[in-house]
Amino acid sequence: MSKHSGKKTRRTVPRIRARKGKKPLTMVTAYSYAQARLVDEAGVDMILVGDSLANVCLGHETTLPVTVEQMVYHTAAVVRGTERALVVGDMPFLSYNVSIPAAIENAGRFLKEAGADAVKLEGGVEVADTVRAIVRAGIPVVGHVGLTPQTVSKLGGFKVQGRSAVAARHLADATAALEDAGAFAVVMECVPSDVAGEISQRLSIPTIGIGAGPQTDGQVLVFHDLLGVGREDDFTPRFVKQYANLGKLAIEAIQSFVSEVQERSFPAPEHGFSMSEGEEVKLQSVLSRPTRDQVADGWVASE
Ligand code: KIV
Repeated sequence: MSKHSGKKTRRTVPRIRARKGKKPLTMVTAYSYAQARLVDEAGVDMILVGDSLANVCLGHETTLPVTVEQMVYHTAAVVRGTERALVVGDMPFLSYNVSIPAAIENAGRFLKEAGADAVKLEGGVEVADTVRAIVRAGIPVVGHVGLTPQTVSKLGGFKVQGRSAVAARHLADATAALEDAGAFAVVMECVPSDVAGEISQRLSIPTIGIGAGPQTDGQVLVFHDLLGVGREDDFTPRFVKQYANLGKLAIEAIQSFVSEVQERSFPAPEHGFSMSEGEEVKLQSVLSRPTRDQVADGWVASE
Protein backbone atom coordinates (compact mmCIF):
# COMPACT_ATOMS: atom_id res chain seq x y z
CA MET A 1 0.00 0.00 0.00
CA SER A 2 1.40 3.41 -0.92
CA LYS A 3 2.00 5.81 1.96
CA HIS A 4 -0.50 8.15 0.31
CA SER A 5 -3.36 5.66 0.13
CA GLY A 6 -4.38 5.51 3.80
CA LYS A 7 -7.61 6.84 5.28
CA LYS A 8 -6.50 10.48 5.25
CA THR A 9 -7.49 12.34 2.07
CA ARG A 10 -4.43 13.60 0.24
CA ARG A 11 -4.66 17.25 -0.84
CA THR A 12 -4.11 17.70 -4.56
CA VAL A 13 -3.62 20.70 -6.82
CA PRO A 14 -7.18 20.50 -8.27
CA ARG A 15 -8.64 20.20 -4.74
CA ILE A 16 -6.68 23.24 -3.58
CA ARG A 17 -7.81 25.26 -6.62
CA ALA A 18 -11.41 24.18 -6.07
CA ARG A 19 -11.36 25.72 -2.57
CA LYS A 20 -11.31 29.24 -4.09
CA GLY A 21 -14.21 31.18 -2.61
CA LYS A 22 -15.07 28.31 -0.26
CA LYS A 23 -13.40 27.21 2.99
CA PRO A 24 -10.19 29.22 3.64
CA LEU A 25 -6.96 27.35 2.89
CA THR A 26 -4.19 26.85 5.45
CA MET A 27 -0.47 26.62 4.80
CA VAL A 28 2.30 26.26 7.41
CA THR A 29 6.02 25.92 6.79
CA ALA A 30 8.03 22.88 7.90
CA TYR A 31 11.65 21.95 7.35
CA SER A 32 12.04 18.52 8.94
CA TYR A 33 10.34 15.13 9.18
CA ALA A 34 9.30 15.76 12.81
CA GLN A 35 7.82 19.20 12.08
CA ALA A 36 5.97 17.90 9.01
CA ARG A 37 4.36 15.09 11.05
CA LEU A 38 2.95 17.66 13.51
CA VAL A 39 1.73 20.10 10.85
CA ASP A 40 0.18 17.27 8.82
CA GLU A 41 -1.53 15.74 11.85
CA ALA A 42 -3.04 19.17 12.65
CA GLY A 43 -4.89 19.04 9.32
CA VAL A 44 -3.12 21.84 7.46
CA ASP A 45 -3.87 21.86 3.69
CA MET A 46 -0.40 22.73 2.40
CA ILE A 47 3.08 22.47 3.87
CA LEU A 48 5.58 24.94 2.48
CA VAL A 49 9.23 24.02 2.77
CA GLY A 50 10.08 27.72 2.71
CA ASP A 51 13.47 29.16 1.93
CA SER A 52 12.94 30.79 5.34
CA LEU A 53 14.87 27.60 6.21
CA ALA A 54 17.89 29.88 5.74
CA ASN A 55 16.74 32.09 8.64
CA VAL A 56 14.93 29.84 11.08
CA CYS A 57 16.99 26.64 10.73
CA LEU A 58 20.38 27.71 9.40
CA GLY A 59 20.77 31.07 11.17
CA HIS A 60 21.34 33.28 8.10
CA GLU A 61 20.24 36.96 8.06
CA THR A 62 18.49 36.61 4.68
CA THR A 63 17.13 33.77 2.55
CA LEU A 64 19.77 34.32 -0.15
CA PRO A 65 22.45 31.80 0.91
CA VAL A 66 20.26 28.69 0.89
CA THR A 67 20.97 26.30 -2.00
CA VAL A 68 18.84 24.00 -4.18
CA GLU A 69 20.71 21.07 -2.61
CA GLN A 70 19.70 22.14 0.92
CA MET A 71 16.10 22.86 -0.10
CA VAL A 72 15.70 19.49 -1.85
CA TYR A 73 17.27 17.67 1.14
CA HIS A 74 14.85 19.28 3.62
CA THR A 75 11.87 18.90 1.27
CA ALA A 76 12.51 15.14 1.08
CA ALA A 77 12.45 14.93 4.90
CA VAL A 78 9.17 16.88 5.01
CA VAL A 79 7.60 14.63 2.36
CA ARG A 80 8.54 11.58 4.48
CA GLY A 81 6.65 13.11 7.41
CA THR A 82 3.53 14.01 5.42
CA GLU A 83 0.50 11.82 4.73
CA ARG A 84 -2.14 14.30 3.73
CA ALA A 85 -0.97 17.87 3.09
CA LEU A 86 0.19 19.10 -0.31
CA VAL A 87 3.94 19.73 -0.08
CA VAL A 88 5.34 22.82 -1.82
CA GLY A 89 9.12 23.24 -2.15
CA ASP A 90 10.43 26.82 -2.28
CA MET A 91 12.85 27.55 -5.12
CA PRO A 92 15.82 29.48 -3.71
CA PHE A 93 17.44 32.67 -4.99
CA LEU A 94 18.94 32.32 -8.51
CA SER A 95 17.59 28.79 -9.01
CA TYR A 96 14.97 30.04 -11.51
CA ASN A 97 16.33 33.39 -12.71
CA VAL A 98 19.38 32.37 -14.75
CA SER A 99 17.68 30.54 -17.62
CA ILE A 100 14.38 28.77 -18.28
CA PRO A 101 16.00 25.33 -18.85
CA ALA A 102 17.88 25.64 -15.54
CA ALA A 103 14.65 26.72 -13.82
CA ILE A 104 12.78 23.65 -15.14
CA GLU A 105 15.63 21.36 -14.10
CA ASN A 106 15.83 22.84 -10.58
CA ALA A 107 12.05 22.78 -10.16
CA GLY A 108 12.02 19.17 -11.34
CA ARG A 109 14.45 18.16 -8.59
CA PHE A 110 11.83 19.02 -5.94
CA LEU A 111 9.42 16.52 -7.51
CA LYS A 112 11.87 13.85 -8.73
CA GLU A 113 14.30 13.74 -5.81
CA ALA A 114 12.22 15.02 -2.89
CA GLY A 115 8.71 13.90 -3.83
CA ALA A 116 7.16 17.37 -3.48
CA ASP A 117 3.83 18.13 -5.15
CA ALA A 118 4.65 21.65 -6.34
CA VAL A 119 7.19 24.48 -6.20
CA LYS A 120 6.91 28.13 -5.24
CA LEU A 121 8.91 30.99 -6.67
CA GLU A 122 9.00 34.75 -6.13
CA GLY A 123 8.17 37.50 -8.63
CA GLY A 124 5.44 38.72 -10.96
CA VAL A 125 5.44 39.74 -14.63
CA GLU A 126 9.23 39.21 -14.87
CA VAL A 127 8.97 35.49 -13.98
CA ALA A 128 5.73 34.75 -15.88
CA ASP A 129 7.51 33.08 -18.83
CA THR A 130 9.52 30.93 -16.42
CA VAL A 131 6.36 29.91 -14.55
CA ARG A 132 4.68 29.04 -17.87
CA ALA A 133 7.62 26.83 -18.89
CA ILE A 134 7.77 25.04 -15.51
CA VAL A 135 4.01 24.42 -15.56
CA ARG A 136 4.26 23.12 -19.17
CA ALA A 137 6.90 20.69 -17.95
CA GLY A 138 4.24 19.25 -15.63
CA ILE A 139 5.31 20.94 -12.40
CA PRO A 140 2.61 22.80 -10.45
CA VAL A 141 3.67 26.31 -9.38
CA VAL A 142 2.67 28.67 -6.55
CA GLY A 143 3.60 32.33 -7.15
CA HIS A 144 4.76 34.79 -4.48
CA VAL A 145 4.32 38.58 -4.76
CA GLY A 146 4.40 41.64 -2.48
CA LEU A 147 7.31 41.52 -0.07
CA THR A 148 9.59 39.02 -1.78
CA PRO A 149 12.48 38.33 0.64
CA GLN A 150 14.88 37.18 -2.12
CA THR A 151 14.83 40.72 -3.60
CA VAL A 152 14.76 42.56 -0.28
CA SER A 153 17.73 44.76 -1.17
CA LYS A 154 15.98 45.88 -4.39
CA LEU A 155 12.83 46.63 -2.34
CA GLY A 156 14.88 48.65 0.15
CA GLY A 157 14.12 46.45 3.17
CA PHE A 158 11.31 44.43 4.69
CA LYS A 159 8.52 46.88 3.84
CA VAL A 160 4.79 46.64 3.12
CA GLN A 161 4.26 46.56 -0.67
CA GLY A 162 1.38 48.04 -2.72
CA ARG A 163 0.57 50.97 -0.42
CA SER A 164 -0.04 53.45 -3.27
CA ALA A 165 -2.74 52.89 -5.90
CA VAL A 166 -0.07 52.60 -8.62
CA ALA A 167 1.95 50.07 -6.62
CA ALA A 168 -1.27 48.14 -5.94
CA ARG A 169 -1.96 48.11 -9.70
CA HIS A 170 1.52 46.60 -10.27
CA LEU A 171 0.66 43.87 -7.79
CA ALA A 172 -2.64 43.20 -9.54
CA ASP A 173 -0.78 42.94 -12.87
CA ALA A 174 1.79 40.61 -11.31
CA THR A 175 -0.83 38.22 -9.94
CA ALA A 176 -2.79 38.29 -13.23
CA ALA A 177 0.42 37.40 -15.13
CA LEU A 178 1.06 34.48 -12.75
CA GLU A 179 -2.49 33.22 -13.12
CA ASP A 180 -2.23 33.49 -16.91
CA ALA A 181 1.10 31.60 -16.82
CA GLY A 182 -0.59 28.68 -15.07
CA ALA A 183 0.26 29.16 -11.36
CA PHE A 184 -2.39 27.38 -9.27
CA ALA A 185 -2.11 29.69 -6.25
CA VAL A 186 -0.25 32.81 -5.22
CA VAL A 187 1.23 33.91 -1.91
CA MET A 188 0.83 37.62 -1.11
CA GLU A 189 3.20 38.87 1.57
CA CYS A 190 2.92 42.19 3.43
CA VAL A 191 0.26 43.82 1.30
CA PRO A 192 -2.47 46.20 2.60
CA SER A 193 -5.61 44.21 3.45
CA ASP A 194 -7.87 46.09 1.00
CA VAL A 195 -5.41 45.58 -1.86
CA ALA A 196 -5.10 41.85 -1.10
CA GLY A 197 -8.91 41.59 -0.92
CA GLU A 198 -9.43 43.37 -4.26
CA ILE A 199 -6.78 41.24 -5.99
CA SER A 200 -8.20 38.03 -4.50
CA GLN A 201 -11.61 38.86 -5.94
CA ARG A 202 -10.17 39.45 -9.40
CA LEU A 203 -8.29 36.15 -9.61
CA SER A 204 -9.65 32.68 -10.30
CA ILE A 205 -6.79 31.05 -8.34
CA PRO A 206 -6.53 31.08 -4.53
CA THR A 207 -4.46 33.76 -2.80
CA ILE A 208 -2.57 32.78 0.35
CA GLY A 209 -1.83 35.76 2.57
CA ILE A 210 0.88 36.51 5.09
CA GLY A 211 0.55 40.02 6.47
CA ALA A 212 -2.14 40.58 3.83
CA GLY A 213 -5.29 40.74 5.98
CA PRO A 214 -8.32 38.50 6.26
CA GLN A 215 -9.72 38.72 2.71
CA THR A 216 -7.33 36.35 0.97
CA ASP A 217 -8.39 32.77 0.18
CA GLY A 218 -5.97 31.34 2.73
CA GLN A 219 -3.26 32.13 5.25
CA VAL A 220 0.32 30.98 5.70
CA LEU A 221 2.58 31.27 8.76
CA VAL A 222 6.12 30.16 9.47
CA PHE A 223 6.26 27.16 11.87
CA HIS A 224 8.61 28.89 14.32
CA ASP A 225 6.49 32.09 14.43
CA LEU A 226 3.17 30.26 14.87
CA LEU A 227 4.51 28.12 17.73
CA GLY A 228 6.84 30.70 19.32
CA VAL A 229 9.80 28.37 18.96
CA GLY A 230 12.39 31.15 19.35
CA ARG A 231 13.71 33.04 22.36
CA GLU A 232 12.00 35.94 24.13
CA ASP A 233 14.43 38.44 22.55
CA ASP A 234 13.70 37.32 18.95
CA PHE A 235 11.97 39.77 16.60
CA THR A 236 8.37 38.84 15.77
CA PRO A 237 6.77 40.56 12.76
CA ARG A 238 3.50 42.41 13.42
CA PHE A 239 1.51 40.07 11.15
CA VAL A 240 2.40 37.00 13.22
CA LYS A 241 0.01 35.55 15.76
CA GLN A 242 1.86 33.27 18.16
CA TYR A 243 -0.44 30.41 19.08
CA ALA A 244 1.98 28.95 21.63
CA ASN A 245 5.26 29.74 23.34
CA LEU A 246 7.18 26.53 22.77
CA GLY A 247 10.51 28.31 23.11
CA LYS A 248 9.76 29.18 26.76
CA LEU A 249 8.47 25.65 27.44
CA ALA A 250 11.59 24.17 25.84
CA ILE A 251 13.99 26.30 27.88
CA GLU A 252 12.14 25.44 31.11
CA ALA A 253 12.18 21.73 30.28
CA ILE A 254 15.91 21.76 29.48
CA GLN A 255 16.61 23.69 32.69
CA SER A 256 14.74 20.96 34.64
CA PHE A 257 16.90 18.31 32.97
CA VAL A 258 20.08 20.20 33.92
CA SER A 259 18.96 20.55 37.59
CA GLU A 260 17.85 16.93 37.91
CA VAL A 261 21.09 15.59 36.43
CA GLN A 262 23.11 17.82 38.74
CA GLU A 263 21.16 16.75 41.83
CA ARG A 264 21.13 13.09 40.64
CA SER A 265 17.33 12.76 40.63
CA PHE A 266 17.45 11.83 36.92
CA PRO A 267 17.64 9.09 35.79
CA ALA A 268 15.30 7.45 38.34
CA PRO A 269 15.12 3.63 38.75
CA GLU A 270 12.31 3.40 36.15
CA HIS A 271 14.59 4.88 33.47
CA GLY A 272 17.27 2.19 33.91
CA PHE A 273 17.73 -1.54 33.28
CA SER A 274 18.57 -4.41 35.67
CA MET A 275 20.84 -7.44 35.22
CA SER A 276 19.40 -10.91 34.59
CA GLU A 277 18.18 -12.66 37.72
CA GLY A 278 20.97 -13.99 39.94
CA GLU A 279 23.75 -12.23 38.01
CA GLU A 280 24.11 -9.24 40.31
CA VAL A 281 25.70 -11.30 43.13
CA LYS A 282 28.40 -12.63 40.77
CA LEU A 283 29.35 -9.22 39.43
CA GLN A 284 32.07 -8.26 41.94
CA SER A 285 33.96 -11.56 41.67
CA VAL A 286 33.78 -11.59 37.84
CA LEU A 287 34.99 -8.01 37.61
CA SER A 288 37.96 -8.69 39.93
CA ARG A 289 39.31 -11.48 37.69
CA PRO A 290 42.33 -10.49 35.54
CA THR A 291 41.57 -9.49 32.00
CA ARG A 292 42.65 -11.62 29.04
CA ASP A 293 45.29 -9.02 28.06
CA GLN A 294 46.82 -9.04 31.53
CA VAL A 295 47.09 -12.84 31.39
CA ALA A 296 48.55 -12.78 27.85
CA ASP A 297 51.15 -10.17 28.83
CA GLY A 298 52.21 -12.41 31.72
CA TRP A 299 51.30 -9.76 34.30
CA VAL A 300 49.14 -12.19 36.19
CA ALA A 301 48.77 -15.95 36.19
CA SER A 302 45.61 -17.37 34.64
CA GLU A 303 43.20 -19.22 36.95
O1 KIV B 1 10.00 31.00 2.88
C1 KIV B 1 8.91 31.14 3.46
O2 KIV B 1 8.69 30.71 4.59
C2 KIV B 1 7.85 31.85 2.73
C3 KIV B 1 6.59 32.17 3.46
C4 KIV B 1 6.80 33.31 4.38
C5 KIV B 1 5.46 32.42 2.54
O3 KIV B 1 8.04 32.17 1.60
